[in-house]
Amino acid sequence: MVKIVENVLLKENIYKLVVEAKDLVRNALPGQFVMLMTHEESERIPLTIHAYNKESGNLTLIYQVVGAGTLELSKEKETLFSLVGPLGNPSELIVNVDDLKEKNILFIAGGIGVASIYPQAKYLHERGINVSIIYGAKNKQFIILEEELRSVCQELILTTDDGSMGHKGVVTDCIKERKDIDICVAIGPMVMMKNVSNLTKEMGIKQIVSLNPIMVDGSGMCGACRVEVGGKVKFACVEGPEFDGHLVNFEAAMKRLELYKTIEGKKYLKELEGETHHGECANCE
Ligand SMILES: Cc1cc2nc3c(=O)[nH]c(=O)nc-3n(C[C@H](O)[C@H](O)[C@H](O)COP(=O)(O)OP(=O)(O)OC[C@H]3O[C@@H](n4cnc5c(N)ncnc54)[C@H](O)[C@@H]3O)c2cc1C
Ligand code: FES
Repeated sequence: MVKIVENVLLKENIYKLVVEAKDLVRNALPGQFVMLMTHEESERIPLTIHAYNKESGNLTLIYQVVGAGTLELSKEKETLFSLVGPLGNPSELIVNVDDLKEKNILFIAGGIGVASIYPQAKYLHERGINVSIIYGAKNKQFIILEEELRSVCQELILTTDDGSMGHKGVVTDCIKERKDIDICVAIGPMVMMKNVSNLTKEMGIKQIVSLNPIMVDGSGMCGACRVEVGGKVKFACVEGPEFDGHLVNFEAAMKRLELYKTIEGKKYLKELEGETHHGECANCE
């Protein structure tokens, strides 16, 4: 059992969850994620490591309630049945931080993707790297962590679809003028990462994206998180979640997310992909 320190509503349907996870936190780095189960029979939920405190051993996750699993999680205030991690690879930029001294890094956060952007921006900003952030949300009600973001970058640009806060429009509107950027990191909905990647390709800017396909076991066994990158099959949970945005087949990734919503879709994927859908994991029945 994992002790919950707090599990509180931040805004709208977005929650902050802090848990005691000393061993996990010891090895955690920005870009990695965890898999948690609220109760013994619950589905596993992958969530990005948002913040961690190596002294207290506390781990912070930010999540949006979008379905049954996250709704169940939002109601639990005492303990989690299980918490596994850190999973996936740390961010490429964190690993190669010494190569970034003269570079300008632009982070693009879409919606709840802001939870994943923050630890990476913080890590780089604390090491003297020039960081800018463009953060887009549906409207003012969904903007979270504004002060935290301001404290970890040189420049923060907010955009909302309805103009209720910051620039009215989408994040790509604000990238076009940025000729000074060396590396762009986009995290958020697939369609946003696709549009940003298309734009930075035209502009000749290196692009990193963090993919969020459906994940079941988070350990490379079930095949649920299969994505196509540079014409090759990759499993986001063990080979990602970060990839070169200019090489990701976003159309295929978005189609898979849609197919996973129905039993017929899952059956179709099993026929199509054979071995990686062996019928033995919770999602393949
Ligand atoms: C590596 C990784 C990191 C993630 N980090 C975060 C995070 O920090 N905060 C956060 O709020 N969410 C994050 N997600 C997404 C989160 O895992 C899903 O929203 C959650 O599993 C949905 O569970 P549910 O049972 O509530 O919804 P479900 O009933 O399973 O699904 C509800 C809706 O959400 C969609 N959905 C389900 N899983 C995903 C997914 N993996 N990606 C995109 N859409 C999905 C479904 O297609 C459906 O439309 C992450 C996903 C991955 C793969
Ligand atoms: S979630 Fe990646 S292989 Fe199962």
